[in-house]
Amino acid sequence: MSDSLTRREFLGAASTLAAGAALTPDMVSGRSAAAVHVRPQARQVAVASANGIRAVQLAAELMDQGVDTLDAAVEGVKIRELDPEDTSVGYGGLPNEHGVVQLDASCMHGPSRRAGAVGALEGIKTPSVVAKYVLLYTDHIMLVGKGAKEFALSYGFQEEDLLTDKSREIWLRWRANRGPDDDWLNVPAEKDLEFERHGTINCNVVNAAGDVSSVTTTSGLAWKIPGRVGDSPIIGAGQYTDNDIGAAGSTGRGESNIKVCGAFLTVEFRRRGMSPTDAALETLRRVVTTTESRLLDDQGRPKFGLSFYAVKKNGEFGAASLWSGRRYAAFDGREAALHDSAHLFERGR
Ligand code: GLY
Repeated sequence: MSDSLTRREFLGAASTLAAGAALTPDMVSGRSAAAVHVRPQARQVAVASANGIRAVQLAAELMDQGVDTLDAAVEGVKIRELDPEDTSVGYGGLPNEHGVVQLDASCMHGPSRRAGAVGALEGIKTPSVVAKYVLLYTDHIMLVGKGAKEFALSYGFQEEDLLTDKSREIWLRWRANRGPDDDWLNVPAEKDLEFERHGTINCNVVNAAGDVSSVTTTSGLAWKIPGRVGDSPIIGAGQYTDNDIGAAGSTGRGESNIKVCGAFLTVEFRRRGMSPTDAALETLRRVVTTTESRLLDDQGRPKFGLSFYAVKKNGEFGAASLWSGRRYAAFDGREAALHDSAHLFERGR
């Protein structure tokens, strides 16, 4: 007998595992029977990076309608992936040093205990959906590069130029002004083009039944070396879900997160009884202890930014960042709002 599950066998196994929260083919079209087991009094909760305010609102509305937790989270982050004005995620994301947009995403579905991810995916606007398809339709966890694109095309995803006029202009400006010794003539700035080199959206959700899912998606570090994969598609770094505990995810400097498996670690701290905020802070302390000296300032503080977002199975949520002044988005069961993140270090001190 083959040791790999056929899709039919997987769906059977998933429905057994999920006890009524089966991954059915319907899930791909945005509806499933997942919310049939309802916990009275409980409300759905979603927590995301600050760029996910519309994501948490939509995810909560969808869960309220009975949509599966992973479908709801992915639909939420898709808003940013498809937004041409967002230069950190999906379509319009800033490219690598050669001007090619390479996208990373991963997701986990708590009830079925499945995971999916794509790395360095080119030409497809919605890597979070492709990651979900890896979860749904394969016995693998991660597909990268050409293989990930071929996989997406086989399901009818359209190949498109992911550079917008805006992201191309920012990239061309960076290339022109990169250094004094290259062959590109410097271009003076005619207008301010604001962007951050790191940008990502993470969204973690729990429905009224206590089922949990998470997703993270990004265009990664702007001007990265082609082929660079950050933390977002790494299960346990960019996001992690344990349906018995909750979910966590991250935005910020991926290389520093990968070394501590930060989303997994945050969920593990939760398992030991810490609140979501304390768990996120403890993970950040671990990040600091594992940071090489070239990335620390003269007071031993990281020169980069990193944040973790966490939700507990019972709906309690929180977030923490290395530096003060960061916010995060949450739907708390009643409304979507931005909240101040806890932090390790005060900016300006
Ligand atoms: N956290 C996103 C990245 O580093 O790619």
